[in-house]
Formats: sequence, structure tokens, C-alpha cells
Amino acid sequence: MSDTYSLVEATVKVIQDRRSIREYTSEPISEEDLKLIFDAARLAPSGENAQPWRFVIVKDEGMRKKIGALGGGGSGRRFTAEFVTKKMQERFATLQDEEKKKAAFEKLTSGQVSAFAATAPVNVVVCGKKDVWDLNYDTSAAIENMLLMATALGLGACWVIAPCIDIRDELRVKELLGVPEEFKIISIISIGHPTRPHRPRPRLPIHEIVFRENWGEFYYEEQA
Ligand SMILES: Cc1cc2nc3c(=O)[nH]c(=O)nc-3n(C[C@H](O)[C@H](O)[C@H](O)COP(=O)(O)O)c2cc1C
Repeated sequence: MSDTYSLVEATVKVIQDRRSIREYTSEPISEEDLKLIFDAARLAPSGENAQPWRFVIVKDEGMRKKIGALGGGGSGRRFTAEFVTKKMQERFATLQDEEKKKAAFEKLTSGQVSAFAATAPVNVVVCGKKDVWDLNYDTSAAIENMLLMATALGLGACWVIAPCIDIRDELRVKELLGVPEEFKIISIISIGHPTRPHRPRPRLPIHEIVFRENWGEFYYEEQA
């Protein structure tokens, strides 16, 4: 009984402690830790047990910089699109300070926010076999396992799609790494030792997201 309880506690803790970490020290990641992360990835569930994931570990600084630059470009274009379609202004509607708002818009549209992956000692490039139907679900399950294992090991990681959201960038990453035609680039996972603790980002409360039998009637009461 107590064993089960401690397993639940440990699981809750690792899920609660995980954050997207975007600042890293220069300390390398040990080979033991890396192996635990990939063992966690390969144990993820996948549709028909297809296991369509493959991973390229990129430690080379020059290559990380190239991938980071693609991330900066992709993210800048995406946020610029959000800005011109006014979605970004909606997102920041509650922020009253105009100076802060302007600075946030500039930072986002410049793309700097997603170039950080280059500063992580390890970039894991997650590739997926294109002809597998459940590819996106499968690789997402593997990635979450990796993030949780990184957290359990005291490492910091971030799931980054900016370098591959644009098909042209995705092809560039493929070419840089020699990824075969039948695979596509799904995401980059930057991993390193965090420079500092981070506060959790807000989440919707449980009472707003779970319904009873049919859509609309909330299952949980709002907590006072
Ligand atoms: C599919 C997916 C793509 C993401 N892409 C990026 C990205 O390109 N750049 C980035 O900085 N963060 C990226 N993130 C991280 C999210 O911004 C982050 O998970 C979210 O803000 C919640 O914060 P938390 O992970 O610290 O709880 C991505 C997360 C997911 C699940």
C-alpha cells in the first residue's frame, strides 16, 4: 500500500514540476541521463505499436545554431501572422501597460523567443515515419515521456516546433541532418541544466474542463 502511495506521489510530483525551460547552464548532460530519456521515449504507447519515432541527438554547437536560427525565423513569421491578424492583441488584451505590450510584441515577432534551443547542450530532433497514420499522437506520447524523465532527473527541457512548423524549414532541418525522405521532422527537444527555478504557467481549473456524460454539465464543483 505504501509503495503504491509513494508511486502516486512521485508521479504527481514529476508531472507538477515539469516546466518548459528555455535557459540552460553550460553543464553537459551525462550519457546515463540521456539514455534514461530515450528509454522513456521508446516505452511510450503508439497506435498499433508502430513506434514511428527516431531521434537525432545534436550536441554540435554549429548545428544547434543553425537549427536555432531556423527556429527564430519560423517563430518570428508565426507571431508576425498573429500580430497582423490581431490575434496577438487579443491575447494581450488584459495587459494595460502599453510599453510592456509593445516590448512583448517586438520580442515575439522578432523570433528571438524560439532561438534559445541553440543554447541548450543537447537538441534532440524528433523524426517520425510519414506513412504511419497516428504519427503525431505517437511522437507526442514519446516526447511527453522524455520531458517527464528529464524533469525527474533534475534537467530542464522544452518542446520546440518553431524550427519545423514551416515546411521549407522542416526540409532544411532534414537536409542538415541527412534525414531520409520517408521521415519528417516533428519537433526539437532542447535539454540542459536549468539556470533557475521557474514558476508554473497557468492552467484551466479542473471544474472548467471536465463534463458529466454530455458536453456542458460540469463534473466537478468550482473550489472556493
Ligand atoms: C506542441 C508544442 C509545441 C511547442 N512549441 C514551442 C516552441 O516552438 N517554442 C517554445 O518556446 N515553446 C514551445 N512549446 C512550449 C509551450 O509554450 C509550453 O508548453 C506552454 O507555454 C506551457 O508552459 P509549460 O510547458 O512551462 O507548462 C511547445 C509546446 C508544445 C506542446
